[in-house]
Amino acid sequence: MTIPRSGIREIFDLARGVPDLIHFELGEPDFQMPDHVTDASIQALKEGFTKYTPNAGLEELREAISEKLKHENGLDADPHSEIMVTAGAVNALSLSILSTVNPGDEVVIPDPGYVSFAALVLLAEGVPVYVPLHEENDFRLTADDVENVINKKTRMIIINSPSNPTGGVELQEDLKGIAQLAIDNDVLVLSDESYERIVYPGNQHFSIAGLPEMHDRTISVFSFSKTYAMTGMRIGYMTGSTTLIRQMTKLQEHYVSCVNAVAQKAALAALRGPQDCVAEMLVEYTRRRELLIDGLNETRVITCRKPAGTFYAFPNITKTGYDSKTMAQKLLTEAKVVAVPGVAFGKSGEGYVRFSFATNIDNIKKAIDRIRDYCSRLTPLTPA
Ligand SMILES: Cc1ncc(COP(=O)(O)O)c(C=O)c1O
Repeated sequence: MTIPRSGIREIFDLARGVPDLIHFELGEPDFQMPDHVTDASIQALKEGFTKYTPNAGLEELREAISEKLKHENGLDADPHSEIMVTAGAVNALSLSILSTVNPGDEVVIPDPGYVSFAALVLLAEGVPVYVPLHEENDFRLTADDVENVINKKTRMIIINSPSNPTGGVELQEDLKGIAQLAIDNDVLVLSDESYERIVYPGNQHFSIAGLPEMHDRTISVFSFSKTYAMTGMRIGYMTGSTTLIRQMTKLQEHYVSCVNAVAQKAALAALRGPQDCVAEMLVEYTRRRELLIDGLNETRVITCRKPAGTFYAFPNITKTGYDSKTMAQKLLTEAKVVAVPGVAFGKSGEGYVRFSFATNIDNIKKAIDRIRDYCSRLTPLTPA
């Protein structure tokens, strides 16, 4: 089994040491972790809160998560048996896939999609079944897409809404259709909701596990990384049936035993504390989104739909005549702007590049000037 090298790493390597670049490749918020969360972390350290915790996480934190899931996601999750605190969403994804997917099992994966989905399925010796997403459909996964590939060997459907890298947000009616297929075919759903709080006005996030008969067949994965700008704290959580959570908690003992104790106190403060910081970040992302997307579209060579969620733009670059890797290289060398080739996220990402607008307005303005200047020197393939 070969786990492909991340295409994001390739562009990091290319950018290393090059002066005066503007960076759009990083998938993490540029904001500071909120002060009250930092204070809670320092307090925890000072109090000597540096010992092992239960495998599934602090009881108090699981209770706070249970309340959050109820109020924000419409999910009922027993804090004692249906919630597990994890070392970021990625630890939740690993445990979910490695504890449920057997060799030869098929797993439906959106393409383009977050790179770890396919890597983890391969690690479990499962078979990734890629479902191409389409720009005309704002890169949403539809029930028809899933119906086309589901069969007796399908073990799991992975959903990622809002999506990295496309910014697509699933509609409730699509989720209903996918849920029905999961029920009819007795398939699990792994729902990665890491970007649940970065959803732009006019769009709405839905948790598929809240639909009838989905509670026990869905593993819902959440993260503190993006919502509270605390990627380096490495904390997230998941909820699922008692059986699955029990199984994964057992497995966790042999991975990381438990999540960093201080990070758990930080997460508790994030959930229990004021939520203005989340709203403020969204306001700022909204401003950046307008500026970046409008600026890209003004080039008339690069075209971009407005993402419904996340801090990613996924513009179409086919008019340039370059494939996505060449375009990312050209942007780096000619415009001094770093973006990730769409193909790094799957075959269907060809023709696109990903810009992460987790960077400030000044950088976005400067980058747009540079990209506009570079594009003015290109001859578009089709009339703009
Ligand atoms: C879709 C998706 N899932 C999971 C993760 C991992 O996040 P975490 O920092 O919570 O492990 C990321 C990180 O970029 C992501 O984009």
